[in-house]
Amino acid sequence: MAPIFDFETVRLDEKKERLLILDQTRLPGKVCYISLKTQEQIIDAISTLKVRGAPAIGITAAFALYLGMKPFIGLSFEAFYKHFKEVSTPLAKSRPTAVNLFWAIDRIEQVILRNRKAAIVDILEAMRAEACRIKEEDKIMCRDIGIHGISLLKPGWGILTHCNAGHLAASWYGTALSPIYTGQEMGYHFRVFADETRPLLQGARLTAFELQYAGVDTTLICDNMASVVMGKGLVQAVLTGCDRVACNGDTANKIGTNTLAILAKHYGIPFYTCAPSSTIDASCKTGENIVIEERSPEEITEKWYRKRMAPENIKVFNPAFDITHHSLITAFITEKGIVYPPFDFTREENDKK
Ligand code: MRU
Repeated sequence: MAPIFDFETVRLDEKKERLLILDQTRLPGKVCYISLKTQEQIIDAISTLKVRGAPAIGITAAFALYLGMKPFIGLSFEAFYKHFKEVSTPLAKSRPTAVNLFWAIDRIEQVILRNRKAAIVDILEAMRAEACRIKEEDKIMCRDIGIHGISLLKPGWGILTHCNAGHLAASWYGTALSPIYTGQEMGYHFRVFADETRPLLQGARLTAFELQYAGVDTTLICDNMASVVMGKGLVQAVLTGCDRVACNGDTANKIGTNTLAILAKHYGIPFYTCAPSSTIDASCKTGENIVIEERSPEEITEKWYRKRMAPENIKVFNPAFDITHHSLITAFITEKGIVYPPFDFTREENDKK
């Protein structure tokens, strides 16, 4: 039985030449789609987190490039490629931490370069097909993360998760929530603790919504309550997603993840990072090479309040992600299995030669 979650996060509407996005800023109050046609609209939807979560951002970017390049059908290859660079550059800047964005842009660029001798209409078709492939592959990867992840978990366990690394952040089962959904299908009766995830509340709004929708036993806690539930023995594993993994295993994920990893170590609780292997960035040696997105102060000082709650002109620091040191991560759950750093890409590169 598949989990009862039948909303699609991102969908290409080919007939109307638009992208349909489930607007995650309206959840859980309203389940509604917005229609995006222009590059500006798509970039705005990514940067304002209407669509968010590393895999979903990658899928959106791939479709955005296809839609963004359609108007250039009559050009020479050189002019088409020049426009591609102009369209992809601002897209790449929309969320700097999630590697899936750059990975998806690169996949589409490689398709264009491989087809340089083809007619532009055929290049566009190849771009569309690649974007659809990225989405379909993501579904399978997410499913496989659940299948591998469940081998580490036992029925009845309490599981703590942070931010939203579920269906809404990816497609179908998600990453960190995939083992939970798999357990739900197998009758494991997990008890999930969802961190609210300040400042944008992806845990309270999105994870709580999708787990409850799927009938998973879910308890919402504030971020600063994690040590209490851990200390009471209510948590047997922490599962989080991630936005980028360096070769040494240092991992960028939603701000607050590192705090949880430190707490998990203190309480002797296994801490698992769940991600498709495309999230491992071969060009990044350690966490120090990962760019951390900083967002606007208003997200902290006024976003969820009728009236601004912090003093005017107070200094604010709002990093959207933090780095968890690889020594705090028990294992990585990927679609290929349970893996451990360091991640060595040199063999794969040599195999390609
Ligand atoms: O800022 P967001 O909401 O895009 O952050 C999302 C996360 O940090 C997720 O944990 C991450 O993208 C993993 S997605 C499966």
